Amino acid sequence: MYTQLQNRDVDRPPVTLATLARMRAEQQKIACLTAYDASFGRLLDEAGVDVVLAGDSLGMVIQGHDTTVPVTMDQMVYHSAAVARGLRRALLMTDLPFMSYTSPQQALTNATRLMQDGGARIVKLESGASQLQIVEFLAGHDIPVCAHLGLRPQSVHKTGGFRVQGREQQAAERMLADARALEAAGADLLLLECIPSALGKTITEAVHVPVIGIGAGPSTDGQILVLYDILDITGGRKPRFVRNFMAGAGDCAQAVQAYVEAVRTGSYPAAEHEFA
Ligand code: KIV
Repeated sequence: MYTQLQNRDVDRPPVTLATLARMRAEQQKIACLTAYDASFGRLLDEAGVDVVLAGDSLGMVIQGHDTTVPVTMDQMVYHSAAVARGLRRALLMTDLPFMSYTSPQQALTNATRLMQDGGARIVKLESGASQLQIVEFLAGHDIPVCAHLGLRPQSVHKTGGFRVQGREQQAAERMLADARALEAAGADLLLLECIPSALGKTITEAVHVPVIGIGAGPSTDGQILVLYDILDITGGRKPRFVRNFMAGAGDCAQAVQAYVEAVRTGSYPAAEHEFA
């Protein structure tokens, strides 16, 4: 049982939370991408992506909804399990969808499903001060947790749309305080979405756990993007932080390899992908 993962591929040992902590300590950038099925899971894994997120963005890019709100637990389990079958090295993180973590007990039940049936190694929830008790409860049951701050897509109907967060001083200070509190509550990773680069840097320097950014500037410990955005197959207007890695690539595998390389070397994100 214990060696099931460790022995899968001795040349490419599986990524764990300890791997990510070491990468942060050694200032080696962490490359993360979303995937929703086994074929892309395998392609990302082979391209050297460190963390694969079975994200609830599947509600938009797979199901065609205009937000992530309609995504259900059953759908997350289904897609997470599919991605898990494609992975050998990468760490699988899976989103707890909208309204699946309204109480500590509900969060524990659903996180358990994502890990047992969905193959997740860490669960992600969109968080702020009101989720502290939930993060603490999950951490107290040894469930690895990533706390997602900044633009929280599950809350767009309340917050007024997909907008840059933390531009005003008060909001920035609240986000910094939330980040520190979530770390203290037991979050193993933080994910910052769509915030000014300066705030991304401040939060990354203020905490001790690895910080992954999407539209949060170059100073976070790692970067994540939605796979279909970098492959340029998402319709409509793209967010400022998206770069098309298919441009100049011969196929999807080359595009993903170019993304991993760009994250590792720091050539992505560039100034044009940042928010002030
Ligand atoms: O669901 C998702 O794809 C995400 C990313 C935007 C980080 O949460």
